[in-house]
Amino acid sequence: MLRTTCAAFFTTFSLALPVWATDLEVTHWWTSGSEAAAVRVLADKFNATGHNWVDGAIAGAGGVARPLITSRITGGDPMGATQFTHGRAMGELIEAGFMRDFTDLAEREGWRDLIFPSTLLDDCTFEDRIYCVPSNTHSQQWLWLSTEAFATAGVKVPTSWTEFVAAAPTLREHGIVPLATGRQPWQMQLIFNALMISVGGPDVFNRVYGDKDAEFAGGPEVAIVFAAADDARHMIVGSNVQEWNLAAQMLIDGKAAGQIMGDWVQGEFVHAGLTIGTDIVCLAGMGEHQYLTAAGDAFFFPKVNDPSIQEAQEALASIILQPVTQVEFNLAKGSLPVRRDVELHNVTPCMQAGMGILNSGQIVSSANSLLSPDTIAQITDLMVEFFNDTSFPVEQAQEEFAAIVRTAD
Ligand code: GAL
Repeated sequence: MLRTTCAAFFTTFSLALPVWATDLEVTHWWTSGSEAAAVRVLADKFNATGHNWVDGAIAGAGGVARPLITSRITGGDPMGATQFTHGRAMGELIEAGFMRDFTDLAEREGWRDLIFPSTLLDDCTFEDRIYCVPSNTHSQQWLWLSTEAFATAGVKVPTSWTEFVAAAPTLREHGIVPLATGRQPWQMQLIFNALMISVGGPDVFNRVYGDKDAEFAGGPEVAIVFAAADDARHMIVGSNVQEWNLAAQMLIDGKAAGQIMGDWVQGEFVHAGLTIGTDIVCLAGMGEHQYLTAAGDAFFFPKVNDPSIQEAQEALASIILQPVTQVEFNLAKGSLPVRRDVELHNVTPCMQAGMGILNSGQIVSSANSLLSPDTIAQITDLMVEFFNDTSFPVEQAQEEFAAIVRTAD
């Protein structure tokens, strides 16, 4: 109350408001070891501006957090800022007028010239106005392999999805789960979409998710993807954890051989003391079609009337893109920076590989950007059923998938 009174006093006499140590509630779903370390970097940099980061961590990753964040914003209880993934889910909030326009700051700081890939800023832009600041680039089409697990089984480390599937029986004979995964619904969808791009190929992915070609979705090219998904659902039997980072822990402990997960997982391996390239190797595009979605995370800011909150929002938006923040945050997170003009030292070989693929332009749009949240939810529900019940006929799953594509928006 005092702060508001003082603010009114200074505003009445049109005096410059002092910079208050404003509390800014920041919601996110970065709760694993490496994610929490990355959050600490942002919070420390933000607090150094004189404001106060009030942490709003939400457990359960995006599948749980996105609906919670969305309902708080639409329900009139907005946070000061929130991490969110690019895509149509946030697009609906922007279109409804809930989110703050940051175009002025973006133009003052030259974001359009700084940010790479530029699609990250495109994903923040609605009707030529900019509504978010990208913080990190992630791609999801990676197969991570534990060299220890393959050594235990006496099998060469695979260089492709095909070789990995062929190694599964020998891994099982040595008590090793071939493919670790959390059972949260978003991870079932992630596996399927990664196989759609990596095994099906970018053209197949774009015909299904971009063109929404239902007949093609029910055809032979996509049947190849469902056959790969059928292999995957047999390979995850025995992986009985919920969280993605607990699935990663199975590789760290030598209990599982592989994991299909976004490149943020390397942050978890590094945080556990493993060496990427030696203890853990990565296959971009599963070693098949080396295309990646250049998506990732950004910070979005609900519209609020409090000038002190607005000032703190601008301070956070500006801090995120600072070169030193980009380096320290992304190294902790295991993600790529959103600026080309920063040097990431001790970059992992997998981050190097990812940057090489993005620089080569082998990029596809993410499902989150191509499909509505409702369509994604329908596909996710189907994949939860398909991956958790190996008796669910593959042909029936593909028919139901094609029907979802037919009404996709
Ligand atoms: C993604 C997010 C990543 C990571 C992952 C698992 O949606 O972009 O930064 O947090 O969820 O939590």
